[in-house]
Amino acid sequence: MEISALFPGLWSLSAFNFVNDFVEVCKNWSGQEADEILRFTIYIKIPILRLIMRLLLSEKQVQQKVKALARKISKDFSGHEVLLIGILKGAFIFMADLARKMTTPIKMDFVRLASYGSKTRSSGRIKFTKDLETPLRGKDVLIVEDIIDTGITLNHLYQCFQARKPRSLKVVALLDKPGRRKVNFQADYVGFQIGNHFVVGYGLDWAEKYRNLCAIYVLK
Ligand code: IMP
Ligand code: MG
Repeated sequence: MEISALFPGLWSLSAFNFVNDFVEVCKNWSGQEADEILRFTIYIKIPILRLIMRLLLSEKQVQQKVKALARKISKDFSGHEVLLIGILKGAFIFMADLARKMTTPIKMDFVRLASYGSKTRSSGRIKFTKDLETPLRGKDVLIVEDIIDTGITLNHLYQCFQARKPRSLKVVALLDKPGRRKVNFQADYVGFQIGNHFVVGYGLDWAEKYRNLCAIYVLK
């Protein structure tokens, strides 16, 4: 199924992407004509953005929550070295902020995952497209995820990492959509529980876009 059929606002997102691409083309031109086109596109882009996105969590709310999570996690691990494992790509901004706010010694590694089979009939089977570079045996490990949706990714990863015999294994997710679960999975630390929305910003993407937004938005 086309993603735009699932999210009615996405036609306007396509329009926004078109304007963005157009701006990129204009940037390669020079002269007054290009400047005028660029200025004109600002007037188009801002209303389109308002049409397609609704602010869900402000930058301040996100930063306060990350700080609180870092404080709680640092206290729970109380001085032990923690190996943070970020799930690429979505978790990279959350992990960068969380790591800098933690007070325990940390090391970092990343994994990248892909699911097998067709997207319409999710097999629930996950494979590594980038595995860890660090052995987990005997370590205190914290998996860092941007969002839990069906729970399939984390459920699989958790079992896989548990088999590598870490000393402890915990999970932190900035966002959680409990209403969308297909498998029973609970993270040890959750930033915000949200409804069944598709969200972008702060590392989360739609078609690889909007990861660099500082706040979190719902795609209408
Ligand atoms: P799960 O296996 O269904 O829990 O999928 C989790 C992954 O799906 C996350 O790591 C995200 O990459 C992606 N995902 C789930 N919901 C959203 C969303 O609302 N916006 C962006 N990505 C999402
Ligand atoms: Mg992800």
